[in-house]
Amino acid sequence: MQDSSVHIRVEGLTMAYGDFVIQHDLTFDIRRGDTFVIMGGSGCGKSTLLRHLIGLKEPASGKVFLNGEDLWEVSAERQGEILRNCGVMYQNGALWSSMTLAENVALPLEEYTKLSKREIQELCSLKLALVGLNGFEEYFPSEISGGMRKRAALARAMALDPEILFVDEPSAGLDPISSRNLDELLIHLRESLRTTIVVVTHELPSIFAIATNSVFLDADSRTMLATGDPRELLHSTECAPLVEFLTRKHSLNPDTEGLNERRPQ
Ligand SMILES: Nc1ncnc2c1ncn2[C@@H]1O[C@H](COP(=O)(O)OP(=O)(O)O)[C@@H](O)[C@H]1O
Ligand SMILES: [Mg+2]
Repeated sequence: MQDSSVHIRVEGLTMAYGDFVIQHDLTFDIRRGDTFVIMGGSGCGKSTLLRHLIGLKEPASGKVFLNGEDLWEVSAERQGEILRNCGVMYQNGALWSSMTLAENVALPLEEYTKLSKREIQELCSLKLALVGLNGFEEYFPSEISGGMRKRAALARAMALDPEILFVDEPSAGLDPISSRNLDELLIHLRESLRTTIVVVTHELPSIFAIATNSVFLDADSRTMLATGDPRELLHSTECAPLVEFLTRKHSLNPDTEGLNERRPQ
């Protein structure tokens, strides 16, 4: 029996495009209620790992379990049911530009529920309020800022009350303040809705702000070098690529600078 606190289990996962192995032998658990960060440098395979967790790509070998069910052992119908409990905000998770924010959020509700038009309308307002966009129902994506668009995309990902929310590079293209607001929103969602959140990011300020657990993917060795709370890893790890990643100077801001100063030499 699998420990019920484990929400997602990745076991001996090897990911490949054709013969080209992106990452091999990944084994880690994502616990219920974690904000789990998939971290690593550009091109190491973070988005590819996310695609494996949401059933878009089949493992070359190894297994992915959601709530104890092997995603690739179950029937296609069961896989669909399992994945309906997952909300996803893609890296370029653009909203439909010809639709208002409310219409964008309504899409998954129209597709997967039998709710009336009025109920869907009410739910859309509720979801937009959840991400701080109450009153913006009738706005078009082009009429709001980049940070607001990301929040609207998050509202759409949350439309069906997912048990697990997957977010790929939430702060890509955002200024530091919008990026921080989005981090705070993710923390708020975890605390208020107890959603398990899986975030792909290489941004240090975000990693230290939101992560309760993580996995570090290394591009050179093409495997994971560590899993754990990044703040603890920062103080405990002896692994050179991870130390280098977590103490990069170029993406430091005052928040993470403090962390580096506390690091034992
Ligand atoms: N559809 C694909 N076909 C072949 N190779 C791909 C595909 N998508 C990504 N890759 C390659 O896989 C590696 C990891 O990509 P990706 O998961 O997007 O990295 P990250 O998200 O960490 O930046 C890169 O070398 C990339 O070129
Ligand atoms: Mg990526």
